[in-house]
Amino acid sequence: MDWGMRNRLSKIIKPKDGRTVMLAVDHGYFMGPTTGLDYFQKMVNPLIPHADTLMLTRGALRNWVEPTVEVPIVLRVSGGTSILNENLLHEGEVLGIKDAIRLNASGVAWSVLVGAKYERDTILGFTKYIDRCEKYGIPMIAVTAVGKDMVRDARYMSLASRMAAELGAHIVKTYFVEGFEKVVDTCPVPIVIAGGKKLPEPDALKMAYDAIQAGAIGVDMGRNIFQSEDPVAMIQAVNSVVHDNHSPQEAFDLFNKLKSGGQ
Ligand code: 5RP
Repeated sequence: MDWGMRNRLSKIIKPKDGRTVMLAVDHGYFMGPTTGLDYFQKMVNPLIPHADTLMLTRGALRNWVEPTVEVPIVLRVSGGTSILNENLLHEGEVLGIKDAIRLNASGVAWSVLVGAKYERDTILGFTKYIDRCEKYGIPMIAVTAVGKDMVRDARYMSLASRMAAELGAHIVKTYFVEGFEKVVDTCPVPIVIAGGKKLPEPDALKMAYDAIQAGAIGVDMGRNIFQSEDPVAMIQAVNSVVHDNHSPQEAFDLFNKLKSGGQ
C-alpha cells in the first residue's frame, strides 16, 4: 500500500488507537431531507468537532460545509435510486474520482447490494471504482446495503463483508447483528458499523459497545446520533465507547450528564 493511501487511511482511522467515529450524514442521496438533517448545517456543525470523519455527499459538502473545516471527508460516490424504490435498489457512480480528489476526500463510499436484483451491476461498478482508488491512493469504504426484504443476520453480513473486502474495499461498513464476531473474524479489512434506524439511546450505545467488543474498529453512525434527543451529547457518548472503552452504562451516564448542559 502506498504512502498516500496509508496517509488517507490514517486520517479516517485514528492512529492513536486504531479506531474511528465516523459521522454519517449522506442520507439525502436517497432519502432527501431525512428527519434531523432537514436543516443540515444547524444539525451537523455542532457535531463536527466530535467526529473523526464526516461521511456525506458532494452537494452537502459544497453547499453546507466550510472549506476551512479540519475533519477528514469521506464522499459518497454511489447512488441512483431513491427510498421510493427500496426493493429495487440499483446504484452506480454518482461522483467521479477526480471530483472526489478535487474536493479533498480522504476516502469514498460505495454501496454494494449483495443478494439484491442488481447486485452484479453494483459490484462491477464498485470494483471499477476501486481500480481508480488504487491509482490515486484513495481508500474505498464498502457499504453493505441491505434491501428491505433481506435477512439481516451474521451469515448474510459475513458474506457481503467478505466479498467487499476480497473485491478490494479498504474498510467495510456493515450492520451489527447477533454473532458479529463471525463477521469481523472472517473479514480481512477493518469493519465499522452503521447505526441503522433510530433506537433508544441506551440500546444504540450498547450496540456500539458490542460491536467494538466483537472487533469492529468503530462506527459510521447517522440516525442514532442526529435523531437523538440530544445529538451533541450522543456523539460524545458514542465517542466514549469507541475511544475510551466506556461501558454502555458509563456512556449513557455521560449522555445524561452532557444532556443536562455539561461540557
Ligand atoms: C445507506 C447508508 C447511509 O446513508 C448512512 O450512512 C447510514 O447510516 P445510519 O444507518 O447510521 O443512519 O450508508 O446504506
